[in-house]
Amino acid sequence: MLELKKIDAGYGFLQVLWEVSLEVEEGEFVALVGPNGAGKSTTLRTVAGLIKPKAGKVIFDGDVINDLPAHIISRGGISYVSEDLNLFRDMSVRENLILGAYAVTDRETQLEILEFIFSLFPRLEQRQNQLAGTMSGGERKMCAIARGMMSNPKLMLVDEPSLGLQPSLVNDVFSALLRLRDQGVTILLVEQNVNATLEFTDRAYILEQGRIVMEGPSKEVKQNKHVQNAYLGI
Ligand SMILES: Nc1ncnc2c1ncn2[C@@H]1O[C@H](COP(=O)(O)OP(=O)(O)OP(=O)(O)O)[C@@H](O)[C@H]1O
Ligand SMILES: [Mg+2]
Repeated sequence: MLELKKIDAGYGFLQVLWEVSLEVEEGEFVALVGPNGAGKSTTLRTVAGLIKPKAGKVIFDGDVINDLPAHIISRGGISYVSEDLNLFRDMSVRENLILGAYAVTDRETQLEILEFIFSLFPRLEQRQNQLAGTMSGGERKMCAIARGMMSNPKLMLVDEPSLGLQPSLVNDVFSALLRLRDQGVTILLVEQNVNATLEFTDRAYILEQGRIVMEGPSKEVKQNKHVQNAYLGI
């Protein structure tokens, strides 16, 4: 479904990604992990069309998309939940969610998706009329993920959903992602919580200093000595 072929990308003269290649098959739940500053968010931004790669190709559903503007890419079925959330603070939770459904024009279908989202995140249903800006950090995070789901995406790019959340909310967020995967949504997840992430994803890529240094089934990656030393503190 998604393929990155030898992507070089960065900011101005700063090159961050070096020949990054990765693949996500339809229905797969894939993790991208690595240390701070490795280029994980840059990779997601490149797929979302917010950064144009200097070299290489991003291929989605058989089409090269790296020359397309971000809004066309998102309409094409790629939803990007960034670290900084981008919620409308002066609108209610419900309004934020409905705005996320821009690609779904049918009102009936919008409400069906909203029902489903509320079943994943009961807390959002309880607080649907609260202004997004007055929600706690954890609640805002859930709201952003939920909004990313509202467009009924084929592929979700999720950047560090557990960052700053207490453990019980981390579990809520992870189980929501798993239920989403069970609904057939393909997910590329960036996470600091490497231990948990390697438990429930199908495959993982390790990105260090802008290069993919390892890939494989998550269970196998978890057994790797380097991964255990560098990320799992074993
Ligand atoms: N807008 C920008 N302009 C210039 N440099 C940037 C910009 N965004 C990121 N960088 C740099 O690119 C490198 C990779 O950043 P990136 O955000 O992709 O890392 P990351 O792997 O997501 O790290 P973290 O785990 O801390 O989120 C870093 O050195 C960062 O300082
Ligand atoms: Mg990041």
